[in-house]
Amino acid sequence: MHTYIIGTGHSRFGKLEQSLEELIAQVAIEALESSGTDPEEIDAVYIGHFNSGMCDQEFPASLVLNALPGLRFKPCTRVENACASGSAAIHQGINLIAGGLARKVLVIGAEKMTQADAKRIGKGLLGASYQPEAQGETAGFAGLFARIAQQYFDTHGDHSHELAKIAAKNHANGVHNPLAQFQKALDIDFCHTQSERNPVVSGPLKRTDCSPVSDGAAALVLAADNVSRAAPQRVRFLARAHTTDYMPMSKRNPLILEGATLAWKKVLCDADVTLDDLAFAEVHDCFTIAELMIYESMGLTPYGKGARALNEGWVYKDGRLPINPSGGLKSKGHPVGATGVSMHVMAARQLLEQAGGCQIPGARLGAVFNMGGLAVANYASILVRDSE
Ligand code: COA
Repeated sequence: MHTYIIGTGHSRFGKLEQSLEELIAQVAIEALESSGTDPEEIDAVYIGHFNSGMCDQEFPASLVLNALPGLRFKPCTRVENACASGSAAIHQGINLIAGGLARKVLVIGAEKMTQADAKRIGKGLLGASYQPEAQGETAGFAGLFARIAQQYFDTHGDHSHELAKIAAKNHANGVHNPLAQFQKALDIDFCHTQSERNPVVSGPLKRTDCSPVSDGAAALVLAADNVSRAAPQRVRFLARAHTTDYMPMSKRNPLILEGATLAWKKVLCDADVTLDDLAFAEVHDCFTIAELMIYESMGLTPYGKGARALNEGWVYKDGRLPINPSGGLKSKGHPVGATGVSMHVMAARQLLEQAGGCQIPGARLGAVFNMGGLAVANYASILVRDSE
């Protein structure tokens, strides 16, 4: 049983005036309208949402009903899996359709972060780490990725220039994304140089190595094969994978994102494709070091050699495998619970030739990789344009 994306919705990301409820309503309405679906036709709603104390409005599962009363009395459920909450919600929807329990599912990802103060945000995000190992960490999640970056540098040499290249690449891509939080190019020198406007956040990571704090939402309508044929547009899940790794870093090799590697291997194998078949990938660049290590996990380069993918130009928009043509989390923004849904929406729009200035010409096959925590929750998808 195949599952299709037949409609998408996406808010602007950034520091927004809209409330969580308004963001949810905006993207849900847009996704339903673009799929030609009435709310009454939806069998279930899943909403990816992290929160972790950053927003007073907890328990968001039913908020969408206020704008779409046709959804009243449908099963609506919040799904939480840290920064991968959005992908986790998508997987719940696919499972329901695959099990024959639903024909159309509305999946929303939403987060409201910017109204909280920095301390509350830092504490909330750190909630997604293993508490005994996060004690005393003052730089929030950036501090944890900074430890990994430092270990990577200690083993493979200083890669701060490559991290700056990743930041500059994703900011350059984000310039063409009208929904991105930052639509401003930052050059490699600016990203590489510590300055008042680009201070050190923790260890080797500067501000430009971090995804920002963001508000935003995204939504999509999933449909089973038999009901998706009438849809004006559709993109098929060719394969999807989900792996979970130990939370304590002390139980893992910090130089390898093993759960990510397994998720990539599984999804490529199940889809029966190779990286060479992909036109692009949207991957989880919550910090630039994460994107560098994901090149290695996906099999683009051997471990420790991720820099090659940059230095040989493979991951740029006109390269062999463009990575994060939407601007990625780094430039598009990272409203935690929305991110996984946003990545799938951006990928679906690429495949439907609706990506505007971010479009990769002729894209037919694309991948998404979204992770929660320090590569604890790992979700990979391969999406294909449906030409039936
Ligand atoms: N990248 C580039 N520029 C950024 C930025 C980022 N991540 N974050 C903020 N800026 C810019 C702002 O737009 C602002 O620019 P302006 O002066 O031209 O308006 C300037 O930097 C200052 O913004 P401010 O919000 O005061 O920055 P900050 O130093 O308080 O916060 C971080 C920057 C990186 C610490 C913050 O964005 C952060 O904590 N990011 C990580 C979030 C996270 O951990 N997410 C979970 C990942 S798993």
